[in-house]
Amino acid sequence: MICRSDKEREGMRAASRVVKAALDAAERFVRAGVTTLEIDAVIEETIRGMGAIPSSKGFCGYPNASCISVNDVVVHGIPSLQVVNDGDVVSVDVTALFKGYQGDAARTFAVGNVSAQNLALIDAAKAAFFAGLEYAKAGNRVGDVSGAIQLYTELKGYGVVRALTGHGIGRQMHEPPEVPNFGRSGTGVTLKNGMCLAIEPMITAGDWRVKVERDKWTVRTADGSNAAHYENTVIVTDGEPEILTL
Ligand code: MF3
Ligand code: CO
Ligand code: CO
Repeated sequence: MICRSDKEREGMRAASRVVKAALDAAERFVRAGVTTLEIDAVIEETIRGMGAIPSSKGFCGYPNASCISVNDVVVHGIPSLQVVNDGDVVSVDVTALFKGYQGDAARTFAVGNVSAQNLALIDAAKAAFFAGLEYAKAGNRVGDVSGAIQLYTELKGYGVVRALTGHGIGRQMHEPPEVPNFGRSGTGVTLKNGMCLAIEPMITAGDWRVKVERDKWTVRTADGSNAAHYENTVIVTDGEPEILTL
């Protein structure tokens, strides 16, 4: 969506505040011994408690309020009775609909004593987002953002997932344009003031290739290496982008 009014911007901010609250609640709750379904329940209660709707639930048949992706699961892990363990890397992705607008964000949490390698992986996903964000400015191209994310990620020695991308967002969870995490600067759609985007690097400690499980949702790294995901909903402006879910 391109926000043409303050009302639309306020709508996007309010939806994003719900997402942020749900992720904060998940962060406080996550610890060794809890199941991913329990984490999902905390997220769903937070969203509904704020009068919003967990828009993942029922989206293309997806069963839950959040996606919870442990270790080698990159994204779209379905909450289950799986217990998270000390040392795990747990990505949590939340989308909420509030008063007609969508917010979308993801964080990767370290559970207990996580290896230095895993902590570095988590940090790199966040840093890759900010590397891309630097180019999220009216007049630049989508490829400027994508190329910056890829360059940062690969320079750090990580893989950048290609099968899934960031996206425009607004009254729908997924709107044009696609925002890949790889590509060439100077290519793609020109960014405009008011454009709402979900920028979301998904990176791997090993090879970037992924496979989808038989449940049709769970995306794992093909080589079994761990992955991290970091996402925010942002509004592009003529100056600094506005990050709505931080
Ligand atoms: N939140 C995801 C994204 O970043 C989409 C999840 S769709 C679901 O685009 F159905 F898997 F929940
Ligand atoms: Co998301
Ligand atoms: Co998204």
